[in-house]
Amino acid sequence: MKLLACCLSLFALLINTVHANTEKVIFLAPTTQHTSGLSEYQALDVLTPLAPSIRRSLPVAFPTDQHPEGVESWYWLKDLRQRQRHEVRICWAATQPTDFRLDVFEHKDIAEQHALLESLTQFIQSQRQTKEAATSAKEEIFLLLRIQAAADFYTTNKTLMQKPPPVDVDIILDPYLDNIFPTSLLPTAAYIVCLAVGSWYVSGYIWSLLKPVAGTEAKSHED
Ligand SMILES: *[C@@H]1O[C@H](CO)[C@@H](O)[C@H](O)[C@H]1NC(C)=O
Repeated sequence: MKLLACCLSLFALLINTVHANTEKVIFLAPTTQHTSGLSEYQALDVLTPLAPSIRRSLPVAFPTDQHPEGVESWYWLKDLRQRQRHEVRICWAATQPTDFRLDVFEHKDIAEQHALLESLTQFIQSQRQTKEAATSAKEEIFLLLRIQAAADFYTTNKTLMQKPPPVDVDIILDPYLDNIFPTSLLPTAAYIVCLAVGSWYVSGYIWSLLKPVAGTEAKSHED
């Protein structure tokens, strides 16, 4: 079982290096449930294992002294399963070179670290106009995802250098199966396994077709 797990995670690594423009964070879901603080977070976009993917146009900026990592945006990762491993990926087009950094924080981290609280509050205020949802009093396991987006290109076009255009991204929350394998990679894994098994049989079949020919050739050499 250990060997299998090892092979699978190596395999997962291989697959992930194929996406050039993917950044991700892997984490274990926390064990503490919260109800407090939920209402402040209602303005954020939500990712859950059942609604794991959103597409957004993220604002970016070139790094400055004040914001060395660019523009920050926040998302709410909800309905997580206690201690389960998850990853969040962000994917974007190679034509929009950007440095993304992903971090997840617990509710208590936010409360304790002033800079985080300030950034989150600012972001929530910028979102307020668009959403105002009802408060749920459910106990939940959740995390807050911070995405930092810094433009990473150089052009002689002054307009673009002063105001880099927003970057289209997919943000995907992916729970791991058994804490070893990202669920969304299952179809790819199944495809590769089918391909491997299929080619084993096909090569056997082709070999059985070739064998008589090879046999007679060898015979004619002997003669
Ligand atoms: C600079 O980029 C902007 C936005 O893409 C474009 O509208 C403008 O024509 C460009 N200017 C030059 C001088 O290429």
